[in-house]
Amino acid sequence: MKIFLDTANLESIKKFNDMGLLDGITTNPSLMSKEGGNPKDVMAEITKIIKGDVSLEVVSTEYSGMIEEGKRLRQYGKNVVVKVPMTPDGLKACKSLSSEGIPVNVTLVFSPNQALLAAKSGAKYVSPFIGRLDDIGQDGMHLIKEIKQIFTNYNFGTQILVASIRHPMHVVDAAKIGADVVTLPPTVLDKMLQHPLTDTGLENFLSDWKKLKAGI
Ligand code: E4P
Repeated sequence: MKIFLDTANLESIKKFNDMGLLDGITTNPSLMSKEGGNPKDVMAEITKIIKGDVSLEVVSTEYSGMIEEGKRLRQYGKNVVVKVPMTPDGLKACKSLSSEGIPVNVTLVFSPNQALLAAKSGAKYVSPFIGRLDDIGQDGMHLIKEIKQIFTNYNFGTQILVASIRHPMHVVDAAKIGADVVTLPPTVLDKMLQHPLTDTGLENFLSDWKKLKAGI
């Protein structure tokens, strides 16, 4: 399973990239806005640091604007994936950009039918938002199971990019289902690294070694 970081925060991107953990990045207009500054500089920097796919999202809501923005976003790097919303214009843009060889991530997916249609339109990634479904009392992970079954039944090449992840158990469940990618907020990736028994184990090893009063 690939791990993407769901952020536009350069410090976090560098931190986890230096550990060799990142296969890609996803951003959205809210994440860009949270970082402030000039988004053009931020997008240029992210695509320079990360070798894998970087999803950059259009903000236009109609077809021709999405195409124009998608092509501009692609100029930041060959690894840019254009993120379009799951709307009729978004799917039309997905089809056009994909047929020109520009990869597309269809975002804001909340139902198996939306995922099926995004795959039909030629999307490289489909992004179901599981945390936002959990937030309204629906089972986000069930959606991942349904999409996985549909894509497997028909051999769709579109990858399931599990988005809106809230905690480490979401990652375990997505991996058990066989999702292709999880995109994680830095806080979730931080939590995945930690275990209290690792900390106490290390503490004990180091205090035992000190008793030897020797170097390595
Ligand atoms: C995915 O690409 C989105 O950026 C993201 O996962 C949305 O998550 P949220 O529901 O935490 O805003």
